[in-house]
Amino acid sequence: MATKMILDCDTGVDDTMAIMYAALHPDIELLGVGSVWGNVDVPTATRNTIHTLELVGAGHVPVAQGAAGPLLRTPNYFGYHVHGDDGQGNAYDHAPVGPAAPTTAAQQIVEIVRANPGEVWLVPVGPLTNIATALALAPELPELVAGVSIMGGAALAPGNTSPAAEANIAHDPEAAAAVFRAPWPIIMVGLDVTMKVLITPERRAVLDAGGPTAQYMSRIMQFYGEFFEKTTFGTWAATMHDTLAVAAAAGTLKIRSAPNVNVEVDCSGGPSRGATVCDMRGIYAGFPPQPGAHCQVLLDVDDSIADEVIELIARHQPA
Ligand code: BDR
Ligand code: CA
Repeated sequence: MATKMILDCDTGVDDTMAIMYAALHPDIELLGVGSVWGNVDVPTATRNTIHTLELVGAGHVPVAQGAAGPLLRTPNYFGYHVHGDDGQGNAYDHAPVGPAAPTTAAQQIVEIVRANPGEVWLVPVGPLTNIATALALAPELPELVAGVSIMGGAALAPGNTSPAAEANIAHDPEAAAAVFRAPWPIIMVGLDVTMKVLITPERRAVLDAGGPTAQYMSRIMQFYGEFFEKTTFGTWAATMHDTLAVAAAAGTLKIRSAPNVNVEVDCSGGPSRGATVCDMRGIYAGFPPQPGAHCQVLLDVDDSIADEVIELIARHQPA
C-alpha cells in the first residue's frame, strides 16, 4: 500500500526535488502540500510548490498557503542567498500557475489527517510553524498520524545557520519545540545525514540526459551548488536535504543507524538558539532505551537513495 503523505515546504531548490520525488514515486500517495516561509517568502514558496506539482503532472494535489513568519516575532531571515531570489536558483521559467487551495496549510493538515486516521505521514521540510499551528488547532493530532518525518536539526553534526542550529529549526525554535514535545513518532532527518548525500556533477549529468522535468531540476540547482562550493565543500555539489525526509517516511531510505532518543529544542536567546539537543549519551552502549523517547535520530544512511531519486526524476516525461 502506498504511504499517504502531506508535505510542508518552504519551496527552494531542494524542496523542489522532494516534491518531485513524492509526487512521482509509485509507493507514495501525496494527499496535500502546505507552503511556509523560510527559504523564500510564503507567496513565492506557494507558487514554486504549485509549479513543481504541475511540472510532474500532479497539479490536482491541493497546495494550501501557510505561515508568513514564525509563531513569535517576525522572520529572522530568508534563504535567498542559498536558493536564489525566486527560490529556483534564479532560473524560474516564469510559467503561470494555478490557484492555491482555499484554506490554510495548518487547516488542510487537520482535515486530511482527520479523514485518514492513523494513515498519514506529515513531512515538514521547512520551518515548523504550520505543524505547530495544526497541533494548536487539533491537539489530538499526535494520535491520528502515522508519524512525522522532519528535515531539520543536527545531533552530532554542526549546524548550518549557526555553529549549533540547523535552518529549519532556527527559523522558528518555539514551533519546533512544540512539535518535538508532542507525543507522535518522529524521524529526525538532520544534517548528520543530509550533508553526506550529495548531487555530484556525475549524478547531475543523469538529470541533464533526462526529460524536461529533470532538465529543469538540473538548471535550478546550478546556483544552489555554487553556494555550497563557495561556503562548504570547495567543489560544486548540491545537498538534497528535504528528499531524504520524504524517503524516510516512505521507507525507501536505507537507514543504517537511527537511535530512538529524547530531543529538546533550545529556545533561549543564547548562541545555541534553535539547536536540537539530542540525548546521545547512550552512544557508547548501543543506545539503551530512554524513557519517553519518541524520536528516531538518523545518524547514517545509504547514499544510493540519491541515484534512485535522480533516476526517477530523469525518467519522467510530461503526458
Ligand atoms: C534546510 O533548510 C533549507 O534551506 C532547505 O530547504 C532544507 O529544508 C536545510 O537546513
Ligand atoms: Ca526546505
